[in-house]
Amino acid sequence: MRHWTMLGEAPIPGTDQFLSLCRGKDDFSIKLSRGQELMNTRKHGSEDALGTLPCQRLKDPSSAKVLIGGLGMGFTLAAALRSVGPGAEVTVAELIPEVVEWNRGPLGEFSGRPLDDPRTRVHIGDVAQLIRKSRACFDVIALDVDNGPEGLTRDSNNWLYTLTGIVAAQAALRPGGILVYWSACPDQDFFDGLRRCGLMVEEVRVYAHGNKGARHFIWLAS
Ligand SMILES: C[S@@+](CC[C@H](N)C(=O)[O-])C[C@H]1O[C@@H](n2cnc3c(N)ncnc32)[C@H](O)[C@@H]1O
Repeated sequence: MRHWTMLGEAPIPGTDQFLSLCRGKDDFSIKLSRGQELMNTRKHGSEDALGTLPCQRLKDPSSAKVLIGGLGMGFTLAAALRSVGPGAEVTVAELIPEVVEWNRGPLGEFSGRPLDDPRTRVHIGDVAQLIRKSRACFDVIALDVDNGPEGLTRDSNNWLYTLTGIVAAQAALRPGGILVYWSACPDQDFFDGLRRCGLMVEEVRVYAHGNKGARHFIWLAS
């Protein structure tokens, strides 16, 4: 049985759950109070791909405006920053302020401290609210706020995966922009929902770690 030391705990707004930051022998984990692991510093292949794949598909990534929800361990943010140019701006929306603090502290070294990059903007709050009030603002919106359309952390995140949520995200995109969603599991209903909104959808399956074991799902919609 692995031994974990808890370094911090934070309430998840709108729920009676907590997130905790735990340190193992040579890794860190963010866990839900029900015991499930949300993130681990050793497994981030699909989180990296969530940041890289849409930016690589842009006509002009040099000055792209990217929105990422949420921060987690910062791997998607770091990958997006590596894939855009010096004139780009990458906003990361994170619901839980303590997660931002953990990334400024012990987690930062694992992702290369992307919060220190001058192109990074941090929005502490619900990415859904930011999407609702944005019109034609972003070239990429990359969402990984939960386990996928079947959420683990917060029921109110389900809105992001409804037809209304998809349409709102489309309205927040600039012409030619790309919506990209991460999920631990396949979800045909959500895939069909993206297509019903008139989007062309590409599904990419990416290993969580290395090139074997579990694969996660990334849907790129444009
Ligand atoms: C699975 S982690 C993201 C992992 C991230 N892709 C990475 O590279 O480490 C999910 C994150 O989304 C945050 N979150 C959950 N709901 C959110 C929301 N509605 N708006 C913004 N952030 C949210 C969580 O606090 C958590 O930090």
